[in-house]
Amino acid sequence: MFHPDGPTFLELMKQALASTERGYDMIAPKFDHTPFRTPGEVLGPMVGVIGEVRSALDVCCGTGAAMRVLRPHCTERVVGIDFSQGMLDEARRRLADAPGDARVELVRGDALELPFDDEFDIVTSVGAFGHVLPEDEDRFVAGIARALVTGGRFVFVTAEAPTVGSRGWWMSHGFNAVMRVRNAVLSPQFIMYYLTFLWPDVHALLERHGFDVAVKRGLCPAPYGRAIVVIATKR
Ligand SMILES: C[S@@+](CC[C@H](N)C(=O)[O-])C[C@H]1O[C@@H](n2cnc3c(N)ncnc32)[C@H](O)[C@@H]1O
Repeated sequence: MFHPDGPTFLELMKQALASTERGYDMIAPKFDHTPFRTPGEVLGPMVGVIGEVRSALDVCCGTGAAMRVLRPHCTERVVGIDFSQGMLDEARRRLADAPGDARVELVRGDALELPFDDEFDIVTSVGAFGHVLPEDEDRFVAGIARALVTGGRFVFVTAEAPTVGSRGWWMSHGFNAVMRVRNAVLSPQFIMYYLTFLWPDVHALLERHGFDVAVKRGLCPAPYGRAIVVIATKR
């Protein structure tokens, strides 16, 4: 559908009818040929604000796109967590030749139940906030805060809401409406919604969990010029 080696429309439909976890297992081998893999034009500027650190965790790491860029910035370990074994298998394969010396660890687990305490200098998460329901956002951010050392940073990319009535606004709300109907009538649910974790709403959420928040705009080239890099530092 997007790329000759990417999933077909039928495969994407089958993914959307499965659970979130199973859906990603199904498209994992072709995932890097979809626009859902976060591109280097976003990852580069995001990781560029980090400098050198001992350790980093990427939450919902998928096929390891962010881990690959993070690894040269880490002196000890770079860890990815994801609940799809298929995506983790792809990550293992694709990270085999990733630049850098830091130990690479892949953990199968739920982003809402992060099994880490006080151990990372950096946590990142990209392309995954749409999988966190609004009622789970506090649990998600609390787990990230717990995983970080004091002074550690949660670094991610978001944007402001699209202008009401714009093409992006209609497309996002239209997609969300379809997913709400799908999830009301079909089980298991496939959790995927747009317009989540947006700036400035996410500011209050982060402050509630003990973060000081700074943002950098204009770091990403077109067509990602609206991207905002958020740097949330654990107090
Ligand atoms: C769109 S992909 C993004 C992957 C990668 N971060 C990237 O940007 O290329 C979303 C990933 O989030 C994972 N995911 C979704 N909900 C999750 C959860 N509750 N716990 C762990 N992983 C989750 C999926 O398995 C999938 O690998």
